[in-house]
Amino acid sequence: MSSLFYKDISTNEYVSGCLLCDEAPCRKACPHSIEVDTIIRSLRFENKAGAVNKLPNLLPCDTCEEKPCKEACLKGKINESVPIDKVMKAISTESRVKENEVDLEIDFCGVKCENPFFLSSSVVGSNYEMVAKAFEMGWAGVAFKTIGMFVPKEVSPRFTALSKENVPFVGFKNIEQISDHTLEENIEFLKRLKKDYPSKIIVASIMGQNEEEWTKLAKLMTEAGADIIECNFSCPHMTSKGVGSDVGQNPDLVALYTKATRKGTNLPILAKMTPNIGNMEIPAMAAMEAGATGIAAINTIKSIMNLNLENFESEPNVEGKTSVGGYSGKAVKPIALRFIHDMKACEELKDAPISGMGGIETWKDAAEFMALGCENLQITTSVMQYGYRIIDDLINGMKLYLSSQGYKNISEIVGSALPNIVPTDKLDRDSICYPRFDRQKCIGCGRCYLSCYDGGHQAIKVDINTRMPILLVDKCVGCQLCSTVCPARAVEPGKRVKK
Ligand SMILES: Cc1cc2nc3c(=O)[nH]c(=O)nc-3n(C[C@H](O)[C@H](O)[C@H](O)COP(=O)(O)O)c2cc1C
Repeated sequence: MSSLFYKDISTNEYVSGCLLCDEAPCRKACPHSIEVDTIIRSLRFENKAGAVNKLPNLLPCDTCEEKPCKEACLKGKINESVPIDKVMKAISTESRVKENEVDLEIDFCGVKCENPFFLSSSVVGSNYEMVAKAFEMGWAGVAFKTIGMFVPKEVSPRFTALSKENVPFVGFKNIEQISDHTLEENIEFLKRLKKDYPSKIIVASIMGQNEEEWTKLAKLMTEAGADIIECNFSCPHMTSKGVGSDVGQNPDLVALYTKATRKGTNLPILAKMTPNIGNMEIPAMAAMEAGATGIAAINTIKSIMNLNLENFESEPNVEGKTSVGGYSGKAVKPIALRFIHDMKACEELKDAPISGMGGIETWKDAAEFMALGCENLQITTSVMQYGYRIIDDLINGMKLYLSSQGYKNISEIVGSALPNIVPTDKLDRDSICYPRFDRQKCIGCGRCYLSCYDGGHQAIKVDINTRMPILLVDKCVGCQLCSTVCPARAVEPGKRVKK
């Protein structure tokens, strides 16, 4: 794949500090009306091809003496402005990508969706105005904030985020329960949304406390105009017992409540699964056997975060106390993908439609979920962090990628990665890839040596004069720790050879 679709450390470094302002002053300041903010946003959301396509034919940045964009950049008020001119110049050498006709429309559980991108059930889709705004911006559907027969009493604060090396929201923890609107208010929201946006898809997420409530909620949501019902068997921090992930961890309860939901509706039913379990296939099979149409996964992972070692309190801190709460965002993506894989690899579930979620931020994340078999995608944490506008680069980035690979419809990539994930005993254990060092790119930092010595097989030494790494082939096991840690991308796996 061309560098436009691969990670690019040069521009990444420039744009990683961008504050992604709401009404970006850099754009307003540009005398040449360049969409500086959306170009940088596209780069941040791994849509470099989209960024390149937004550049004007002749880039005026070189001759623009005053650099008013950099002057206006609010990051300059914190430390240094984003080097906007350098970013524009760096990408101006790339060729534009032609966007051929690509169809993002996809069938999910028999429901036609204009694209696979839905808001997942949470605060991001919890009233009429929010969802209407998201629909206007291009989201194809919403899994509305979970609706129950009761309104929970919530705490403050209820969120906290894990950061690493100044990257916020590496992971996110919440202890919020279901909708804080009454059942009647929620029904009104759904009715109005369906009336005003008939082609958008409304997934009504519900949570009952007993069979009667599941049936009743399913019936009410169907009458309100929902297209799909999603059973929340997975919230990990409910205050009452026998609901949320208590259900998802128990296949008998999953079956009981799926059956009860089926009694109240003829619509497709999604069973939303908890990742707080070893084998998701077991409750997922119970749901499918009991009448579910598909699976939604994953809900949040039970977690404890940001423990203060002076007072031993952790976050979110409610008067000195916290509770185990749900972990979401970028950090959970590999875990979500493995659960989805496990269900798709299971004979009984391989044809069950899956709505995938957990850490989706960019079109690449989205494409990974689809390549593992999801026909539909849901997103919360990255919308909380960046707003509904992430849909721009999800759609544009996905279209450019699909078109560059010669696909005509997004459904063509669904499941494409599954044959390449095999049990560990099926992996080739008779060959090896030694690392290849690129001496032009190597900066002599010694990180490969250090990691190989302390965390590998002591197979690298450093030339004391040049600081260049030298491979000790006899000791190297081809683990590629060196290429993983190299900050200059100067180490790559070499050709695979017989051991
Ligand atoms: C603040 C917050 C509130 C949530 N509320 C609900 C909810 O009401 N019902 C539900 O099924 N999932 C809820 N979730 C879980 C999300 O729908 C989603 O499954 C999870 O966050 C993983 O996706 P993400 O990494 O894109 O956020 C919530 C998540 C967050 C962060």
